[in-house]
Amino acid sequence: MSKLWGGRFTKETNQLVDEYTSSIRFDYVMAEEDIEGSLAHVTMLGKCGIVEQTDVELIKSGLVKVREKVRNGEFEFSVRNEDIHMNIEAALIEEIGPVGGKLHTGRSRNDQVATDMHLYLRKQVLELIDLLHHLQQELIHQAKQNLDTIMPGYTHLQRAQPILFAHHLMAYVAMFGRDIERLQDSYKRIDILPLGAGALAGTTFPIDRHFVAKQLGFTKIYENSLDAVSDRDFIIEFLSNASLIMMHLSRLSEEIVLWMSSEFGFIELDDAFCTGSSIMPQKKNPDVSELVRGKTGRVYGNLMGLLIVLKSLPLAYNKDMQEDKEGMFDTVQTLKGALQLYAPMIASMKVNKDAMRQAVRNDFSNATDIADYLAKKGLPFRNAHEVIGKLVLYCIEKKVLLLDLSLDEFRSFSPLFEEDIYEVLQPEHVVNARNVYGGTARNQVVEAIERAEKALEVSMNWNNNE
Ligand code: ARG
Repeated sequence: MSKLWGGRFTKETNQLVDEYTSSIRFDYVMAEEDIEGSLAHVTMLGKCGIVEQTDVELIKSGLVKVREKVRNGEFEFSVRNEDIHMNIEAALIEEIGPVGGKLHTGRSRNDQVATDMHLYLRKQVLELIDLLHHLQQELIHQAKQNLDTIMPGYTHLQRAQPILFAHHLMAYVAMFGRDIERLQDSYKRIDILPLGAGALAGTTFPIDRHFVAKQLGFTKIYENSLDAVSDRDFIIEFLSNASLIMMHLSRLSEEIVLWMSSEFGFIELDDAFCTGSSIMPQKKNPDVSELVRGKTGRVYGNLMGLLIVLKSLPLAYNKDMQEDKEGMFDTVQTLKGALQLYAPMIASMKVNKDAMRQAVRNDFSNATDIADYLAKKGLPFRNAHEVIGKLVLYCIEKKVLLLDLSLDEFRSFSPLFEEDIYEVLQPEHVVNARNVYGGTARNQVVEAIERAEKALEVSMNWNNNE
């Protein structure tokens, strides 16, 4: 069996070289995209009179047959044919004879592979946006059910000020909202056609790149043929966006792991999303969250890997660039896996409202509010802070909470204290006092949810408005 590029060679390739240089082991996943690109290319070759219409029809029907084999799992991918492009072309020639060799007219694997990657990523990014929307919906749904759930808000992982659990969840809705925006923005840099750039310089055939772009649904065409075949920015940008998504998922995961612990006891995940221990029968582990947190590392690694592959490459194509694929495929799979699990996991999460409330009650997270109380009565905030610091210390030494103090005790720290201090210190009061745009007061969170739902609707229609 000879190679598609065998003409110049007088010897068989060393078998280890075949295996080492081949990419079919991973780029077979772009079979659909490769055939789609070829169908558009050959249609254009016919339209431009570069290949006769009868040959074009033959090639198209051959490609469709090859595609059937791929879809039915009958296609045999072979290392000897190096990559997906030559595997498909060889199968086409086997299917319809030497006329299949006309498909590669006016094209190079360099612009072909770039086109496949653009087609692949364009599709995947849309799917990922859908998954992120779905996760946002489930977070919003949980938020609506927790508009009266008060929990300690943390800084330095120390109880800081009470907040609504809904408010905490909505922070993630905002984070994933930015992730979606980034993917949507990056889409315009993915939605560009490289085909027609040839190996690097263009082609001598009178091709019509605009016609190909239209068939493949690309909004733009690469302006420069060298750039077209050597640009991998769109993949790096995707990996970077993916890294941020994983970082957000990982932070959420870390919180879920903490909240699930007996020490917090704030939530319980559904049995369907947890696993047990082979030795400790009492255990129910939040494995999904732990793995998502762990898999964040490989996505960051994929980003670093590709940045480094590209950093010193001269223009235009270099074989190094074949290293762009595994990290991209792996990242897509890793993200999809995490997002597909996270939406239903959040939906089935049980919130232990009492445990959260207990945690708020048993601490000093209302201390800021006493300082604000004194400041509102004219004491400079800095002095008020000092007074309350001493008050808290007094409580700690006496092993009591702020609400346990008598009015006389309060007054011994400042004559400004009055009976209403007890109301001010109630958790609901503390939460609702933060009645500022973006704050945790119940009515503010209700409005934030309304805004988020509207934004979600707009975002879900984003691709229809093009
Ligand atoms: N398998 C190759 C890749 O993924 C396709 C492009 C090969 N081009 C070439 N001139 N050898 O990068």
